[in-house]
Amino acid sequence: MSASLSLTILVGTMTDTARLVAQSLELTLDDGDVAVGTKLMDDLDAGVFEGLGLVLICTSTYGQGDVPDNAKQLYDSLTQERPDLSSLTYGVIALGDRTYTDTFCNGGKRFDAILSELGARRVGDVLLHDASAGTMPEEVAMDWIPGWIALCRQTLGAETEVRDEA
Ligand SMILES: Cc1cc2nc3c(=O)[nH]c(=O)nc-3n(C[C@H](O)[C@H](O)[C@H](O)COP(=O)(O)O)c2cc1C
Repeated sequence: MSASLSLTILVGTMTDTARLVAQSLELTLDDGDVAVGTKLMDDLDAGVFEGLGLVLICTSTYGQGDVPDNAKQLYDSLTQERPDLSSLTYGVIALGDRTYTDTFCNGGKRFDAILSELGARRVGDVLLHDASAGTMPEEVAMDWIPGWIALCRQTLGAETEVRDEA
């Protein structure tokens, strides 16, 4: 039996699409083998990462390639406080729209950049969703998530083996 994973999904959203994606993932995953908790980013700061091992950032993009309003405090806190996140493993689902050619999915890309700068390790590629593509983001995310979870198990499982041998 595969080891259970504990996953926290952090949601940055303006008009709730990212929240819907997170809810769909939570329903799909929370089967006893993956424990999932979802938090809106509202009022969070960098302290939220303390004690978290595995996080999935699920965020849209607004303004000129900015993170959505409810994610600003968390993003700014990461850039200012610069905590050591070397024990964090993360993935990113970035929602955007390709009509914004120069800033496509920048909200998610910004979180990816700051988390990796702070030492966290990304598993898998960032999932980019284009609102103009005619696909439903929650369906695209549900197709993507099993592969991502499998990669997390590989990465975190390998880490546990190294620790056991040490
Ligand atoms: C005013 C406005 C600005 C936006 N700016 C961008 C942008 O710069 N880059 C991008 O990829 N998408 C941009 N988008 C598209 C949204 O990120 C996309 O529609 C997303 O699915 C919305 O998710 P949400 O409902 O969770 O906020 C913008 C949308 C609006 C309404």
